[in-house]
Amino acid sequence: MSLTLVGRCPGCGEWGTMSEEAPAPSGGSAVSRVTAKPIASLDVKPEERVPSGIAELDRVLGGGWVKGGVVLLGGEPGVGKSTLLLQACAFIAKGGHRVLYISGEESAGQLAMRARRLGISEKNVDLLCDADLLSMLEAAAGYEFLVVDSVQAFRIEGESGWSGSPSQVRNVASRAAMTAKSLSIPMVMVGHITKQGTIAGPKILEHMVDVVLLFSGERNSSHRLLRAEKNRYGATDELGIFEMTEGGLAAVTDPSRMYWGMAGSVGTPGVAAGVSLEGSRPLVAEIQALSCATPFPYPKRTARGIEVNRLQLLLAVLERRCGIFSRNSDVYVNVAGGLSLQDPAADLSICAALASSFRDVALPEGVCFIGEVGLAGEIRPTAKSSLRVREAARLGFKAAVMSARDPAEKPEGQDGFLIIKVGSVSAMLERFLK
Ligand code: TYD
Ligand code: MG
Repeated sequence: MSLTLVGRCPGCGEWGTMSEEAPAPSGGSAVSRVTAKPIASLDVKPEERVPSGIAELDRVLGGGWVKGGVVLLGGEPGVGKSTLLLQACAFIAKGGHRVLYISGEESAGQLAMRARRLGISEKNVDLLCDADLLSMLEAAAGYEFLVVDSVQAFRIEGESGWSGSPSQVRNVASRAAMTAKSLSIPMVMVGHITKQGTIAGPKILEHMVDVVLLFSGERNSSHRLLRAEKNRYGATDELGIFEMTEGGLAAVTDPSRMYWGMAGSVGTPGVAAGVSLEGSRPLVAEIQALSCATPFPYPKRTARGIEVNRLQLLLAVLERRCGIFSRNSDVYVNVAGGLSLQDPAADLSICAALASSFRDVALPEGVCFIGEVGLAGEIRPTAKSSLRVREAARLGFKAAVMSARDPAEKPEGQDGFLIIKVGSVSAMLERFLK
């Protein structure tokens, strides 16, 4: 079958992702010229780190850029990828190192104007805005940090496909990665994302790089979140939190204060506080739930900031274990501030918010809910619970509701703080929402 006849991938159903591949040359003689070595005999050197100068970025990278390490930074247009990278370039340049920024997205004039706006006046940041990627990569010799903005903007002559096509993206990325590895310098490539929020281009792109970072933010908010999807040099659960300001991206130093109670909704039925652990950092999150009677046979379940499947599961637990029936109601859940919660410890706060909305009774102020909820309606202990309790106390909470089996104790110096241990969701409701 000729590939020119195939527009849509029969495997994944996506359009424009098929590309033609020449068969690999067949292998030569049966006698191998390479010898394997025992793993224990190899010299190991810890990777050399280069601090990025941006604490929130270092947190997600696991301690800074790595020499010879290739990072792919994905995000929606306008989220601030180029801004973040220009700021990172400026810091490295300040240390006396030469930095090369290769751009296929913006002209040199546009980038220079932005750099002015960001107050970047370093002489060591060089710009290249040409169409020929290969000669720009050749010019990278002698530089100590390299940015390619973006993998979709370039095209390698002599290879098939237009820029941004899967084969071109793969080629551009592999040439750029080879350059960084051979020069042993850190490199960041910007990657566009699809409507579904994944990095555009072939999946192999993510396998080719050492670190995949995703930068996200809500349209109408200045907050930006940075997460690692993959990190060969560190953990993937850390969260970097920024704010886009007039002068570029600034770190948010006390994120709990940013997410909890900012909207003035505390004390309303349906609002509960949970403490979610994002990597090593606990965050107090505001869960808002709203239930509303519907005459339709298929009530709506809408969730922002938690997965809708998790909402459905918790509604089932509330119905079967606590007698809270939601089958005639539309249910909406929102995590304030655009935060997205993956931590199962948020379950109990979601249940508390839902039940509070169904019963139309506000939860007592100053109380937060920390625990995973099981299908039997039991509350389970959570990881690092004392860290969470300490964060809640720091923000002025007076009590934390937790699993009866959670070992957490009162935080030091907070004698007035109460830890209320309960075994099940129904016991929690009995106590707070009677
Ligand atoms: P940009 O870095 O160009 O996004 P990306 O490279 O991800 O497409 O960010 C562009 C947005 O950021 C634009 O809407 C303007 C805003 N911005 C600020 O608010 N303050 C600033 O200092 C800068 C440089 C940009
Ligand atoms: Mg950009």
